[in-house]
Amino acid sequence: MNMLEVKNLSKVLGERQVLENMSLSVQQGEILFVLGRSGVGKSVLLKTIVGLIHQDKGEVWIDGEKTHPERELAMVAVRRQCGLVFQSPALFDSMTVKENLIFGDEDKARHISATMAWLKLPEKILNFYPSELSFGFQKKVSLLRTLLSNPKYLLFDEPTTGLDPVTTNLVNDVIRDCAKARNMGCLVVSHDLQSAYHLADRIVLIDQGKIALSGTPSNFKESDYPLAVAFRKGTINFAEGY
Ligand SMILES: Nc1ncnc2c1ncn2[C@@H]1O[C@H](COP(=O)(O)OP(=O)(O)OP(=O)(O)O)[C@@H](O)[C@H]1O
Ligand SMILES: [Mg+2]
Repeated sequence: MNMLEVKNLSKVLGERQVLENMSLSVQQGEILFVLGRSGVGKSVLLKTIVGLIHQDKGEVWIDGEKTHPERELAMVAVRRQCGLVFQSPALFDSMTVKENLIFGDEDKARHISATMAWLKLPEKILNFYPSELSFGFQKKVSLLRTLLSNPKYLLFDEPTTGLDPVTTNLVNDVIRDCAKARNMGCLVVSHDLQSAYHLADRIVLIDQGKIALSGTPSNFKESDYPLAVAFRKGTINFAEGY
């Protein structure tokens, strides 16, 4: 069974129950958007899937096999199968773009040119340092770094936040290609409703640690759940709820 499954994940951070019995799944070739206001736990969910945060309860399964977050070596293999594109570009400032991309794995160098062309990144930037690049280029380099590992599943944390419309469209095209041409499973955390309508096979809305809604983009458009209405109207205050 080729899918990434999150089963009953719970996590308390500080005083807060950030994730409460959360379950969802993404199949290969599918695009799932996870929407929710700021601070609801979207990044925590993605980091928990790849073992950067350890859940209190619940399990993550990849292609029918349970992951073991307590076994760091096994999680390295999980992170190869399940690539996380971080919310901030998370590049090492003291390394060139090329060093950031290869990071000791010369095997990755073979695919750099083709993947850079896909992302419309000029090869001359390989010798630049991250601080010499615009934010949009840094985000694309971060995406490129994850793509070079050729993961089966891609976890995107706000891939289009802060990007101009042209780069947003390019990143959305890459997400669609990953799923529909390369058969990867894509879990996309976002505030960007237009991208969700455009790309998602399914949308999940999280609210107060739980899944409040799960369905197609049409289901989301028709829902009278207050947070879904607030998202649609654009009246959501990401800092303070709705
Ligand atoms: N390592 C951590 N230690 C303690 N609390 C944390 C940690 N990481 C996240 N949190 C808390 O967990 C909650 C959820 O954070 P998270 O970053 O997942 O939100 P988010 O939904 O991704 O928000 P945004 O849309 O702003 O990115 C927040 O209250 C945050 O302060
Ligand atoms: Mg986040």
